Amino acid sequence: MIVTIDGPAGSGKSSAARQLAKRLGFRFLDTGAMYRAVALAGKEQGVDWQDHSQLTRIALSLEIYLHDFHVFLDGRDVTDEIRTVEITQLTKHVADNPDTRRILVDAQRKLAQGLDVVTEGRDQATVAFPQAECKIFLTAGETVRAQRRFLDLTTRGERVTLESVLANQSRRDQEDEERVIGGLRMAPDSILVNTDGLTQDQVVETLEKLVRSKMPG
Ligand code: DC
Repeated sequence: MIVTIDGPAGSGKSSAARQLAKRLGFRFLDTGAMYRAVALAGKEQGVDWQDHSQLTRIALSLEIYLHDFHVFLDGRDVTDEIRTVEITQLTKHVADNPDTRRILVDAQRKLAQGLDVVTEGRDQATVAFPQAECKIFLTAGETVRAQRRFLDLTTRGERVTLESVLANQSRRDQEDEERVIGGLRMAPDSILVNTDGLTQDQVVETLEKLVRSKMPG
């Protein structure tokens, strides 16, 4: 069974999807981490961000391995490195490149093949897994999302203000929504869940009920 969870940054989908996968005993696919890993490799290899072919070559040659909620890039654990403000901004170049998108969507389908999976991203219901049995679109108000991201970044020692987080988030929302291929769009058969005012446990419980209602008898 494939469960897709799409939504904007800070909607809480990452932690919710992770916990949901644990509860269900499903594999978890953090597709944002794959885009981020390519951006990190691009930075380390000093790519020209305007040259699409350089990034595409990197995406093709990399080995991205997702295991136990950790992300490995050619065998190196990059779980924390891919979450910095700088890599978050650079990831735009990977997400905007139709060729790298195709390579990563292909990799996502291979990783999910024959397995029960909770997959999280922007285009999972619309592009990667249109046949998914359960599609969820998770969202939350702008301020709530920015507060979550602010807490997350400051806990990891980054020096940011709530205002800068909110401004970056608005820009990223716009980029994600306007992206022609793989942009953030709700599939017609997705179920909308707004996480405003819900605790993390309540979100996971809501999602678990939804998934179980879609499980074959
Ligand atoms: O979910 P995240 O913040 O880790 O995602 C990082 C960036 O990657 C985000 O700005 C959009 C992009 N992304 C995408 O285009 N498609 C996906 N399936 C997942 C992420």
